[in-house]
Amino acid sequence: MGAFVLGTGSYLPRRVLTNAELEGMVETSDEWITSRTGIKTRHIAGAGEETSLLAVKAAQKALEMAGLGAEELDLILVATITSEMTMPSCACLVQKELGAVHAFAYDLNAACSGFLYGLDMADAYLRRNPAMKIMVIGAETLSSRTNWQDRNTCIIFGDGAGACIVGGTDRRHGVLASKMFADGRLHNLLFMDSARGMNPDLSNAGNQGSYIKMAGRDVFKHAVRAMSGAVTDVMSTLGLEVDAVRLFIPHQANIRILHSLLERLHIPPEKVYVNVSKYGNTSAASVPIALDEANRAGMIAKDDLVLLCAFGGGFTWGAMVVRW
Ligand code: ACO
Repeated sequence: MGAFVLGTGSYLPRRVLTNAELEGMVETSDEWITSRTGIKTRHIAGAGEETSLLAVKAAQKALEMAGLGAEELDLILVATITSEMTMPSCACLVQKELGAVHAFAYDLNAACSGFLYGLDMADAYLRRNPAMKIMVIGAETLSSRTNWQDRNTCIIFGDGAGACIVGGTDRRHGVLASKMFADGRLHNLLFMDSARGMNPDLSNAGNQGSYIKMAGRDVFKHAVRAMSGAVTDVMSTLGLEVDAVRLFIPHQANIRILHSLLERLHIPPEKVYVNVSKYGNTSAASVPIALDEANRAGMIAKDDLVLLCAFGGGFTWGAMVVRW
């Protein structure tokens, strides 16, 4: 018994930020951004559009698709690095707003791999108790933690949320295999400081959060290597070649990372879902938004094999195969 997808949902904030607008903010050009990242637009949360609000909107759509009431949920897992509060968790805010009175709730931080880590965890719960209904959400407002004067990073990220409800199933369907990884030794290549950890002087000064910092070229190299390794690993545990996969949904980091990945794995572009040009890199939200769009577009049929993979700060990464 493993996790089977009962419903998906996604939500993007209304405001769209174009490359042309970024040209007026930092020294860059639409041509540079498009050729280096494939990104044309990204959605940016406005006043009142906190991470939990994006998460709730995505979750409501997933509940509607699954035909479930919020009170039927047993667990809400939110993968995020940009919750509006450190305490309580974003998941508790979502639980309150949905009215999911029977669900326990917590957040998970695995950066861009967070949704995959969350789905892996949901799968483990369901193997213990197949009767559970679990909502896994990836939600981010990275715009709140982006340095809008840093052209190395501000062109890449965007805001959004994606949600997926899973329940127990037979052995043939749902999550067939997953492989998750981390390497904290490389944490300084992609990071976002938080408030100061120690306060020996009992002072209020300097307790500010900071912005995303990234060594772009190194991240690129590691991302391609790690994701292709994870995919190869997870496919070999099933004794399958990538040809068996109907749809590949990778983390939408940037188009050059995706192209390198496909080349290494020999996956044809028509088997890959790509929306990075519209949304940029939405970290933990990227895989569930893409999954929801592909699902609603009718690109996945019963019994199809869907391959998911992600890579992010930590470093964290992983790959998963789901039979629909
Ligand atoms: N506009 C114009 N020029 C720029 C910009 C910009 N927005 N940003 C950087 N440059 C300049 C640099 O300053 C540099 O100039 P210099 O040669 O005078 O020093 C030049 O462009 C080349 O910079 P590089 O960093 O070497 O450019 P590169 O080809 O590596 O592209 C990029 C940069 C797009 C960030 C690339 O390294 C990349 O895609 N890295 C992966 C990053 C990523 O996807 N991170 C997401 C988080 S992790 C994840 O989700 C997987």
